[in-house]
Amino acid sequence: MSEPIRFPTVEEIPESARVDGARWSMQWLCDGEIRTFHGPGADVLSPICVRQADGSLTRAVIGRTPLLDRAAALEALAAARRAWDEGRGEWPTMRVARRIGAMERFAELMGKAREEVVRLLMWEIGKTRKDAESEFDRTLLYVRDTVEALKELDRSSARFVMEEGFLGQIRRSPLGVVLCMGPFNYPLNETYTTLIPALIMGNAVVCKVPKYGALLHAPLFAAMREAFPPGVVNVIYGDGPTTVGPIMESGEVDVLAFIGTSRVVNILKRQHPQPNRLRSITGLEAKNPAIVLPDADLDVAVKECVSGALSFNGQRCTGIKLIFVHRSIEREFLDRLSAAVDALKAGMPWDQGAQLTPLPEDRKTERLAAYVEDAVSKGARVVNGGGAAHGTFFRPAVVHPVKQDMKLYTEEQFGPVLPVATFDDVSEIDHFMRLSEYGQQVALFGRDRKKMAFLVDALVNQVSRINLNSQCRRGPDTFPFTGRKDSAEGTLSVSDALRAFSIRTVVATASNDENKSLVSDIIVGRLSSFLSTDYIF
Ligand code: G3H
Repeated sequence: MSEPIRFPTVEEIPESARVDGARWSMQWLCDGEIRTFHGPGADVLSPICVRQADGSLTRAVIGRTPLLDRAAALEALAAARRAWDEGRGEWPTMRVARRIGAMERFAELMGKAREEVVRLLMWEIGKTRKDAESEFDRTLLYVRDTVEALKELDRSSARFVMEEGFLGQIRRSPLGVVLCMGPFNYPLNETYTTLIPALIMGNAVVCKVPKYGALLHAPLFAAMREAFPPGVVNVIYGDGPTTVGPIMESGEVDVLAFIGTSRVVNILKRQHPQPNRLRSITGLEAKNPAIVLPDADLDVAVKECVSGALSFNGQRCTGIKLIFVHRSIEREFLDRLSAAVDALKAGMPWDQGAQLTPLPEDRKTERLAAYVEDAVSKGARVVNGGGAAHGTFFRPAVVHPVKQDMKLYTEEQFGPVLPVATFDDVSEIDHFMRLSEYGQQVALFGRDRKKMAFLVDALVNQVSRINLNSQCRRGPDTFPFTGRKDSAEGTLSVSDALRAFSIRTVVATASNDENKSLVSDIIVGRLSSFLSTDYIF
């Protein structure tokens, strides 16, 4: 059985994990200024509870974020629109090499905020130090890889195309004002995987930070202010309907980059008065199944399923959310899975080796318990030592057998509950996939070549990534990341994202001597940022 979690007293919090949330409180970024909001704010409640003298637990308050009003949100939008200036702004018309220079400067400054952001990730969303450091480093690498990918893209656009008597130069141009919204589970990484490509392609951005994982953006404001012209990036906080609603209703957003739920994105899209003008790039829910075939290597399957389902307490869109195990190996698999889950170490994010940590969302443990109760009331059992809550912590529950009438069969639990279903025939997997609202990934565990190949072919048109004998995941970030149905719209990867936030634009002319001379003079005289054969090294 896994050890119960022990929340610390104030004195037990190590110096190396303490945060100064007050320093970043009530700040937002608008029009190149780091502003302090003097209106209402919201306490930042940490998932980490502090043990009081009488033994009771109190969630730590680590700072305050601004609850911006409609006027402030629209001010940020107006700043972005000025920076865009119908495509005539300094940033959208800047030569690519200079935009790259600005992004490189941002990356350099961003690196200096690492420890501050890592500590806030631990306190705001309960991410372990190891995972928080990895989120930061992966994001910085993403910035650097994006720079390299744009250099590559620009090099291939530097040449002219001669076709059917026409001469043309084809480049990618920015789209306008982008509204970026990231999720709480990867508040830095998943916000930046849309923010960075949107910026570097020449767009202006309003970024609305998630409810949890909000303060950690503030240590990066100074870097943004220094690296980018005023208004190019604006960061807002607050209640969605009050801030994002008016921004969408204005019709002045050209691209919506949203990682969250399909319910919210559907509301946002409907708020835009001219949806035909809105490009959407989304990453939404998923119910990724793992399928464990009779001949699977159970050491591998158990290890990958535990990590796939419980990394960051199961709060990953790519997490394994339902396991199908073949009846012939059901008993052995469940025993091994339960033992592995119960052996996971619970602790505070700074504790060495902690694998399970407290949960940031309000009333999350109650919602997880309700999922388990629903399954149990319909005939399932918790087959390991999990299922109990303690403060903001929920000990992972392995629930079996999960059937179609249970919520855990279709709904994304996004937390430490592992539903396991038993199957006799692969047609049952097909039935699940057809029924599912989602189509992101699957993980297949087995060795029989013919069966694996058959399942690959059966699933490849229902999801966007099939993982063989390994858990579902987004990375490496150069791989395409997308989904079908309610799981995503558009494709993100380092290079795909550059395309998502831009449009192909061509300058063309009939290829006669006079036009060739015109184009040549523009290039030689370096008269245009677009018409140019500059090669970026
Ligand atoms: O929440 C979704 C993240 O994009 C997952 O990324 O699979 O690398 O943990 P990951």
